[in-house]
Amino acid sequence: MNTPDGQNRAETTDYNTVVKPDFARRYLETYFKSIDEDERRICTFLAEEYAKLVGNPEMIDIGCGPCIQHVLSATPYVSSIQLADYLDGNLDELRNWIQSQETAFDWTHFTEFILQLESADSSAKAIAHRESTLRSKVVNIRHANVLDESVIGEDKQFGAVGFFYCAEAAAKTKPEWQKTIANVARLVEPGGRMFIASCRNTNFYTVKTDDGKDEVIPTASVNEDDFAALLPNIGFSLERSRIEVVNVGMGADHGIEDILLLSLQKNGEKIDRDTTSDSVNTVINKAP
Ligand SMILES: C[S@@+](CC[C@H](N)C(=O)[O-])C[C@H]1O[C@@H](n2cnc3c(N)ncnc32)[C@H](O)[C@@H]1O
Repeated sequence: MNTPDGQNRAETTDYNTVVKPDFARRYLETYFKSIDEDERRICTFLAEEYAKLVGNPEMIDIGCGPCIQHVLSATPYVSSIQLADYLDGNLDELRNWIQSQETAFDWTHFTEFILQLESADSSAKAIAHRESTLRSKVVNIRHANVLDESVIGEDKQFGAVGFFYCAEAAAKTKPEWQKTIANVARLVEPGGRMFIASCRNTNFYTVKTDDGKDEVIPTASVNEDDFAALLPNIGFSLERSRIEVVNVGMGADHGIEDILLLSLQKNGEKIDRDTTSDSVNTVINKAP
């Protein structure tokens, strides 16, 4: 299957050259001004699955884009959070939000929704508190390339790894997609958890351009069978995984009719670490 504009030739999508400029703002404006059905389902799934984290692990969100909504609900369960993406423009948006700049994207509607999912106080004060707790736990905003075997350029592993809508965005063919998932899986500690959201059975999604038209961005078309075939080969048992197919009905607007939600536990003994380390916000890599 080809994308509507006929692009689907190379094996990967280089977001620096293939995707139109100002992806970060356009992506935020297209998908996050309100809470779409896919995000409602992802946030609900994550609220349940993050609660299974034990030992206050370190977390990294790989290919996080300009977004913080998928780590907001992890905040109570992790000691520190790193945000990693390929595009500098996305990292700039994240720094804006961490630094509470006036131009930062407003995520308060997501924070309110996430607190409601937790049956917690969702007043303005509680929203501000959750957001400031997240800001204090983000210890690094950094570059990542999921197409590289060394995704973040160091050997570090994490007890919790988020990987949302990224593998199928960076890869266009199934072999490249498999490599991408395997590369990120290496970042997960033995016994640690990986959380994934993926488009299902589509080879594109759309992002609005400034003139109101849709930019069509290619994706690898994958489904639950592809994950089931791959996961045991890269250290995850299907018995200890939760994999759901969710109809979100956004096909007509954005090319995303169904999504996949995965909560995976890596084989091996969980590392018993000192959870007091590295929870101080020291290395935000602030832009000049
Ligand atoms: C559809 S967006 C998903 C963003 C966010 N995780 C979310 O759930 O909304 C795809 C993201 O993958 C990132 N990306 C594309 N190629 C990448 C690569 N080679 N390495 C790391 N991230 C990449 C893009 O910059 C973009 O932020």
